[in-house]
Amino acid sequence: MSQQRLNTLGFSLLLAASHSGMAVGNTPDYQPSELLPASEATVQVARNNKAFSHPSALLSDDKQMMFTLGRSLFKKIWVSSPASTQASDGLGPLFNSRSCLRCHTNNGRGHTPDTSQADYNAVSMLLRLSIPAQNNQDRHALDSGQSGVIPEPTYGTQLQDFSIQGIPAEGRFTLSYDEIPFRFADGETLTLRQPNYSITDLNYGPLHPDTQLSPRIAPQMIGLGLLEAISDEDILVWEDADDLNSDGISGKANRVWDIDAQRTALGRFGWKAGHPTIKQQNNSAFHEDIGISTRMYPQGYGGCSPQQTLCRQAPDGNSPHLDNVEASDAVVSALELYIQHLAVPARSNIQDPLVTEGRAEFYALGCSACHRPSYVTSAAAPEG
Ligand code: HEC
Ligand code: HEC
Repeated sequence: MSQQRLNTLGFSLLLAASHSGMAVGNTPDYQPSELLPASEATVQVARNNKAFSHPSALLSDDKQMMFTLGRSLFKKIWVSSPASTQASDGLGPLFNSRSCLRCHTNNGRGHTPDTSQADYNAVSMLLRLSIPAQNNQDRHALDSGQSGVIPEPTYGTQLQDFSIQGIPAEGRFTLSYDEIPFRFADGETLTLRQPNYSITDLNYGPLHPDTQLSPRIAPQMIGLGLLEAISDEDILVWEDADDLNSDGISGKANRVWDIDAQRTALGRFGWKAGHPTIKQQNNSAFHEDIGISTRMYPQGYGGCSPQQTLCRQAPDGNSPHLDNVEASDAVVSALELYIQHLAVPARSNIQDPLVTEGRAEFYALGCSACHRPSYVTSAAAPEG
C-alpha cells in the first residue's frame, strides 16, 4: 500500500497501559483524515451489515481473486475427521467454534452470551486461562519472552467449550451479573452491571486453584493491514512505562514471541497485543479456536493438553496433500491477505453536535494519550 495517514480514533490502540491520573488536553481542529479514517484506503459504503466486508479501496486488481478466496475461507465451516472432503476436515477435537465468521460476525465484533436463554453458549466470546509462574522454569519462560502466560496445567490457555463427538468438551462458560447502583456528582443515578465469569461442568477435573480467567470478546476485522503497517518506532515512541512525562498516564508495549522470526517482537493484535502479526494471530485462531493445524501450529490435535489423552488420540486431518497439516500454506496466505485488506468505512455524522462534544471530551480527558488519533503507515510496508 502507499503511505497512509491513518485516523485511528476509536478503532485501535496498541499500548497496554495503566491509568494513574487525569491529563487535560486541548481539542485540535478537525483533520481531513478524520472523515476518511484510512485515508485513500477508506471506502464509502452503505451502513448495513456488510459495511465491514468490503475490500480496501487500494486493493490491486491482481489481488481481488485471492481476497474473494480468503473471504470464503473465513466463512468455511470445518468438520471433524475423517470426512469425505479432506480440505475441510480436522475440526477440534476441542474447539470454540467451527468457523472464523461465527465469532467475527459480519467481520464485526462479538457479544456477551445471551444469559436470558437457559441453554446459552458463549459463541463470539471466550475465556483465556493462565496461572502465575510456579517455578524457575516458568519464570524463565516468561522472562525470555517465549511465553506470554503459563497455561493452566490441564485445560491450557483457553477454555474450549465445544468438542467433536466422543470427546468431552472442557466445560461451560457461564456468566452472571451483579447490579451496582451508581451516583454522579450532580445527583443523577444509574445502575451498572458487573459481570461474573465462571466455568461449570468441568470435564477434566478441577482447575488449578490459582487459575486466572481473562474474558475476550471477538474484535472487528477492519483496517488491520494498516495497523500492521505502522512502524515499530512510531508506536514505541509513545511508550512511557514510568510516566517520565508526568501526564499521569503510563503505557507499556507488549513484547511477544514471533514464531516465524524466532525472536521477540512488538505485540500488535488481540486485546492485549498478544501476537506480532496478522498471520500469527490467524494461525493461533485456527489452532486454539477451531482446532485446525497449520505449519505454524502443526499438531492435528489442536488445543488438547498432554493430560487430555483421548483427545490427543482422536483422528486428525493432517494430509500430505496439504503441507502435512489441516490448513495448507495456500489457505493461510489467502486468509492473511483477506484480513489485511478489509476496508475501513468513512465516518458519518461527524458534524453532529453530540459527536463534536464527545470528541472534545476525548481530548480533554486525556483519552488521546493512549488512543493515538492518527498514524502514518511505514513507507516500507507492502503494497496494497
Ligand atoms: C471462538 C471465537 C473466535 C473464532 C472462531 C475466531 N476468532 Fe478471531 N478473535 C476472537 C477473539 C476473542 C479475539 C481477541 C483475542 C485476544 O484478545 O487475544 C480475536 C482476535 C482476532 C484477530 C485480531 C484482531 C485485532 O483487532 O487485534 C484476528 C486478525 C482474528 N481474530 C482472526 C481470526 C481468524 C482468521 C479466524 C479463523 C481462522 C478467527 N479469528 C477465529 C474470537 C474468535
Ligand atoms: C492508559 C491508557 C488508556 C487511556 C488513558 C484510555 N484508554 Fe481506552 N483502552 C486502553 C486499552 C489498553 C484498551 C484495550 C484493552 C482492553 O480493553 O483490555 C482500551 C479500550 C478502550 C475501549 C474499547 C475499544 C473497543 O474496541 O471495544 C474504549 C471504547 C475506550 N478504551 C475508550 C476510552 C476513552 C473514552 C478514554 C478516555 C476517557 C480512554 N479509553 C482512555 C487504554 C487507555
